Amino acid sequence: MTEAVRTPFDPADETGVAPSGGRDLFSKFDALIAERQALLDTGVRDPFGLVMEKVLSPTRAIIKGKETILLGTYNYMGMTFDPDVIAAGKKALDEYGSGTTGSRVLNGTYQGHTEVEEALKEFYGTRHAMVFSTGYQANLGLMATIAGKEDYIILDADSHASIYDGCAMGNAQIVRFRHNSVEDLEKRLKRLPADGGRLVVLEGVYSMLGDIAPLKEMVEVSKRHGAMVVVDEAHGMGFFGPNGRGVFEEAGVEDQVDFVVGTFSKSVGTVGGFVVSNHPKFEVLRLVCRPYVFTASLPPSVVATAATSIRKLMHAGNKRAHLWENSRRLHQGLRDLGYKLATDTAESAIIAVLLPDQQTTVITWQALLEAGVYVNMARPPATPAGMFLLRCSLCAEHSADEVEQILAMFEAAGKATGVI
Ligand SMILES: Cc1ncc(COP(=O)(O)O)c(C=O)c1O
Repeated sequence: MTEAVRTPFDPADETGVAPSGGRDLFSKFDALIAERQALLDTGVRDPFGLVMEKVLSPTRAIIKGKETILLGTYNYMGMTFDPDVIAAGKKALDEYGSGTTGSRVLNGTYQGHTEVEEALKEFYGTRHAMVFSTGYQANLGLMATIAGKEDYIILDADSHASIYDGCAMGNAQIVRFRHNSVEDLEKRLKRLPADGGRLVVLEGVYSMLGDIAPLKEMVEVSKRHGAMVVVDEAHGMGFFGPNGRGVFEEAGVEDQVDFVVGTFSKSVGTVGGFVVSNHPKFEVLRLVCRPYVFTASLPPSVVATAATSIRKLMHAGNKRAHLWENSRRLHQGLRDLGYKLATDTAESAIIAVLLPDQQTTVITWQALLEAGVYVNMARPPATPAGMFLLRCSLCAEHSADEVEQILAMFEAAGKATGVI
C-alpha cells in the first residue's frame, strides 16, 4: 500500500497543523468558519453563496430554478439590458477584441477609453475624467496618492472599505468623524495643525443604511477650514440632481467639490470606476497613481457599454422619477407592515430593514427568497454599529405592480418568521 504523497501546497488537516509542521496561517479564521457552519447547520441557505442561474432582465433572475424578483442589485437605472448598451458592447467586442492586455499608460488605452472619459466629462461638466478598472481602485488610488505624510485625510466613520483601504495604503494621517455629524467634522478640522494639506472624504449616499450626507453643510465647513473635498457618488449617480450627477449636485455644491469618485458597477450597469475633477494639475495622477498604472485597463466592450449608458443617463428624467416613486412606495409599504427601517423616509433607492440578530435575519432572508424576492443581507463588520440588515435596493425597471408583489412577499415572510 502506498501512502498519499503530500506536497508543500497541501492544505493543513483539521488539527490546523500545516504539512510543514508550522502554524496554519488560516487558524485565525477558525471562529468565523465555526460560526458560519453553526448557522448552516440550522438548515438555512448560505446567504453569501447564491448563484443566479439565468438573468432575465434588470429585475428578474432564475435562482434555484425559480423566477425571482431582484431587489438587491445596484442596477438602479436598469441599464444592464438596454438594447443600445448591449449593441455597443457587442460591436466593440467584434472590432477591438476581448481585452487590452495592458495598463492605461502603456498599450491599454484604446479609442473607447478616451470616449468613456469624454462621456464622463460631459456628464459631470468637468475638465478632467480618469477611468480606473473598478470604483474600489479609484478610491484606493485617489486616497493613497494625493494625501502624503504631511497631510490629513478626514473621513466619515461609516466610509466604504475602498476609502479605508486607500487610506491604509497611503501615508497620510487619518482622522475620523462621527457619521454624518457636521459638528464633529468641524471639531476635528479645528484641532488639526495649521500646516499640512487636508482632504475631507464624504459619500453622497451611505450604502448600508441608504441615508444621505448633509453635503451642503459639510462642504461649507470643510472649505471654511481650508480642506479639499472628495465626494463618492457610487450610490447617487444617475438619479440625484437635475442631471443625475449625484447628491452633491442636488445639494448645490458642485463648484466647491474638488473630486467626485464614482463607479460603473451601479447605475451605469457594467464595471469600472472613475474620478472627475477641474483641478488644473489633475492629469498628473495618470503617472503617479499606482492602482491606475499597475493594472490592466477595462476591456473594450466594457468601456463601450459604459459610454453608451452614461450618455443615455443624461436624458433619463422619466426613469429617475419612476425610481423615486418605487423607493417611496416600498419605504411606506414596509413601514405600514410594521418593519423597522434605517431611515424615516426614503432618502435614496436603498431601503434597509433592521432586524435584531443574525438568525432572524437569515431566516427572514430565506423566507423572502422562497417567496420569490432576492434582497441583500448585511451583517457586521460590513454594517455600522453591529447591525443586521436586509437591504432592499430598487430599480427604475421595477413596475409599480412588482413593488406591490414585493410588499406582499414581505408581509408573508415577516408573519411566518414572527418579525412583524
Ligand atoms: C461607496 C462606494 N464606493 C466605491 C465602491 C466600489 O465600487 P466598485 O464596485 O466599482 O469597485 C462601492 C461599491 O460597493 C461603494 O459602495
